[in-house]
Amino acid sequence: MREQPFVGGEDDWENGYCARSEISEESRLFRAVRIVDSLMAGRAEIADFARVYGSSLFDSNRVGRASLIYSSTLGRHTYTGNNTVVMHSDIGNFSSLSWNVTIGSANHDYSRLTTHDFLYNEKLPLRPNSEKAIYDRFEKRTIIGHDVWVGAGAIVMNGVTVGNGAVIGANATVTKDVAPYAIVVGSPARVIKSRFDIAIVTALQDLEWWSFADEVIREIYPLMRSDVSLDLVRDIERVKNEYTANLRR
Ligand SMILES: CC(C)(COP(=O)(O)OP(=O)(O)OC[C@H]1O[C@@H](n2cnc3c(N)ncnc32)[C@H](O)[C@@H]1OP(=O)(O)O)[C@@H](O)C(=O)NCCC(=O)NCCS
Repeated sequence: MREQPFVGGEDDWENGYCARSEISEESRLFRAVRIVDSLMAGRAEIADFARVYGSSLFDSNRVGRASLIYSSTLGRHTYTGNNTVVMHSDIGNFSSLSWNVTIGSANHDYSRLTTHDFLYNEKLPLRPNSEKAIYDRFEKRTIIGHDVWVGAGAIVMNGVTVGNGAVIGANATVTKDVAPYAIVVGSPARVIKSRFDIAIVTALQDLEWWSFADEVIREIYPLMRSDVSLDLVRDIERVKNEYTANLRR
């Protein structure tokens, strides 16, 4: 792990800034990124002007240009396009977040006198030192499962849970939980279909291929050319078991 890879200070936008973070040696940090209170346990690629605050990236993650990952966790191989914001959210493995996506929007409490952020933003000088922030703008965490594809410009509201394998259409506004492998579109988002029938969805949920080690995924890669069926799921399970048994010998 390397600490503080940058020479820049907190306001040094050109060189970037890194504080109180652990970043693996294999990670690649591009121009003017800001990384604070974060962990990059495996390989991570952080593109120009991206910010990662108070977050953990587990392995093989890519964060697009000018994206923001705030108080969140990204599972293995999960990546974002450009200008994507992930706040107060936990995202599984192998999920693909397109560009201009928002996951976990904050809520300003509109029942109070003002919706302005000085009521919760600890950094603004309008709050007397003796007072704590009046409320927390993130009541609940937003949960995105494994192998979820979120289309361009979609927004997933604070506190929503999106099941494994779901697809969120471009520009959707997701206000309610999404079932595993459902495809949702529109604003508010509605289900238009399921990726697979219920038997296959159940088999895939049991298979949990997204937890396989990278070398097992390379082993089953050729099988992924086939159409998805219960036979395919069984073949994948068999190849995985054979591979793991060979390793033990
Ligand atoms: C959600 C999506 C995957 C569905 O694709 P599909 O299965 O080919 O969908 P279809 O074209 O069969 O559309 C089914 C219906 O949903 C509607 N629909 C599809 N995508 C929609 C969207 N994003 N928003 C609103 N409605 C949408 C279609 O108009 C159609 O409606 P109809 O039945 O009234 O005619 C796709 O439309 C999408 O949004 N992809 C994201 C693309 C993207 O953001 N790429 C960025 C790079 S990662």
